[in-house]
Amino acid sequence: MLDIIEIIKPAEQGKNMPYLCRGENGDLYYVKGIKTTRKGQICEWICANLAKEFGLPMAPFSLVNIPNNIYSESSSGKVELGTGTAFATQNIKFANWYQPAYADKVSRKLKEDLLAFDWWIQNMDRMKDNPNLLWVNNKLELTVIDHDSAFGFEFFPTIFTQEHIFFRCS
Ligand SMILES: Nc1ncnc2c1ncn2[C@@H]1O[C@H](COP(=O)(O)OP(=O)(O)O)[C@@H](O)[C@H]1O
Ligand SMILES: [Mg+2]
Repeated sequence: MLDIIEIIKPAEQGKNMPYLCRGENGDLYYVKGIKTTRKGQICEWICANLAKEFGLPMAPFSLVNIPNNIYSESSSGKVELGTGTAFATQNIKFANWYQPAYADKVSRKLKEDLLAFDWWIQNMDRMKDNPNLLWVNNKLELTVIDHDSAFGFEFFPTIFTQEHIFFRCS
């Protein structure tokens, strides 16, 4: 398992405060630690694997190890990340938040696949106001993240159909 060797800064958005970190291979990752809860991390891992198998453009992901001694020089992130195994996605360079205005740049198949996937995993966390999708404008590329509240944490079918980012989106 890849060791994290540097904790750089918290994400600018997000309730679980993932941190941008550097792995021992030199690559940058967004790491979700204990603040995500163990259940949330397990949801992330299972759904990331399912999304990949489903053919969705899931951010490249892995489990990482946060060593005990990483906090000896700086305590930044200690409360949110903790130590030991955590879930990580590779930093998507130059990504912005996906916005509904980009809808015509995304294929109908991908929109339908994401809608079906989120219904399947009971994910209420891809709504119009918080789609948990990243967008790289110069590549017109969409990347999927954030499944820590899947599997029916709070699944309300009526709200899902009203609010999902790709419901009734041609
Ligand atoms: N792989 C990634 N590449 C670039 N930015 C990311 C990545 N993962 C997360 N982020 C940034 O961190 C924010 C919070 O991550 P997210 O997984 O949605 O956490 P939360 O569960 O707290 O909502 C995202 O909105 C995005 O801005
Ligand atoms: Mg999120």
